[in-house]
Amino acid sequence: MAEREQAGSVASGDPIVGSAVYPVGSRVNERGHLEVAGCDTVELAAELGTPAYIYAEDDIRGRARAYREAFERRSDDFEILFASKSLPCTAAYRLFAEEGLSVDVASGGELHMALRAGFDPDRIHMHGNNKSDEEILFAARSGIRHLILDSFDEIERCERLLDEPRRVLIRVTPGIKPSTHDYVQTGQLDSKFGFGLEDGLAARAIERVLASDNLELVGLHAHIGSQIFELEPYTLAIRALGELAGDWCKVVNVGGGLGVAYMAEDEPPSIDAYVDVKVRGIAEVFGDGVRILIEPGRSLVANAGVTAYRVGTVKEIPGIRTYVAVDGGMSDNMRPMLYGSRYEALVADRAAAQPDTLVTVAGMHCESGDILVRDAMLAEPAVGDVLVTPATGAYGYAMASNYNGVPRPPVVFCRDGEARVVVRRETYDDLTSRDV
Ligand SMILES: Cc1ncc(COP(=O)(O)O)c(C=O)c1O
Repeated sequence: MAEREQAGSVASGDPIVGSAVYPVGSRVNERGHLEVAGCDTVELAAELGTPAYIYAEDDIRGRARAYREAFERRSDDFEILFASKSLPCTAAYRLFAEEGLSVDVASGGELHMALRAGFDPDRIHMHGNNKSDEEILFAARSGIRHLILDSFDEIERCERLLDEPRRVLIRVTPGIKPSTHDYVQTGQLDSKFGFGLEDGLAARAIERVLASDNLELVGLHAHIGSQIFELEPYTLAIRALGELAGDWCKVVNVGGGLGVAYMAEDEPPSIDAYVDVKVRGIAEVFGDGVRILIEPGRSLVANAGVTAYRVGTVKEIPGIRTYVAVDGGMSDNMRPMLYGSRYEALVADRAAAQPDTLVTVAGMHCESGDILVRDAMLAEPAVGDVLVTPATGAYGYAMASNYNGVPRPPVVFCRDGEARVVVRRETYDDLTSRDV
């Protein structure tokens, strides 16, 4: 993306400036500490406690604008939906509403949060492969823009529940398999999501919905997966959707999925290149008369956030490995355990020091698999250090749990040296607040 390329070209001995993994504007300050959006992460850790999710607010806004500008250069009928499963908190919903984005929700809870944050219902789109009666009624009563239909049972459920025509899209699994982790591939035929193209189910679903009195079919949807670095699969997915389109098709939603840099060597396509492929593909296949929708999540928020932890123990097993244990782990970042995801780590107190010690960063949970970074080079890690894992802005807070009775960390938005807590840390009392 443009801002990142600019940052990358800054000549600096600072190991953080220009790194695509860290939030834009991060640097090592005069005290040798990691600074995010003008805030010293070591000071933040002391003030707010650890773990904490720390975001550069302007970086999130910059990414939303990069999407908008990429579209504005190419199309006059588009909508960018924040895939809110990636960071479902009021401040994020509000920020994206302010930036003119729409929102994708995948449950009644996400719909509730989007509405509470002030999202115009006409900018809300609802997914889910098993929406309940309550969720369908909630969406309909709220007047959301589109329900995205996922199964024949759901079509029947909607027909039974809805008393006036509702705009719907049909989710298609176009049979495209991008190279990403199996668990985040969603467009292949063998999928719990949507209607298959090859097996004829998508065509049957379209016929079925076109014949319905209270479902108004306006378009198609496909999301082929997440953390994708190739652009070709999107073109193939768009062509596959084209096989189904008819006069009724006024909206084409081609999902999210753009990959991000978790490690320095990762080189995802730019937002501009990603938007270009989608806009050109849709124009070729569908012509000019359709509205283009996309649903980015990870690429809006992952690199804008870091997680700060405190090191509690350093355990050296001679000849085997050194474990650096921090005060969080799988309860604030499930991705290493879920997908074997790799992350970088940094001692924030000595952010410019040469990393010289190979360690394994472990969490504090009762699982041997609770490992945040298998092989991290750190600068002489010691008890009491603040350790930061970058690129943890997406699906970390979203998937956080209370495993081992751990209160979930706060979410902190930083801007021009000011930090504001937008989600407070849970308390021990929160842990028992639902018990009856
Ligand atoms: C339907 C749908 N749209 C959008 C997204 C967002 O994907 P990403 O975060 O990779 O951009 C997801 C992620 O799972 C999804 O399931």
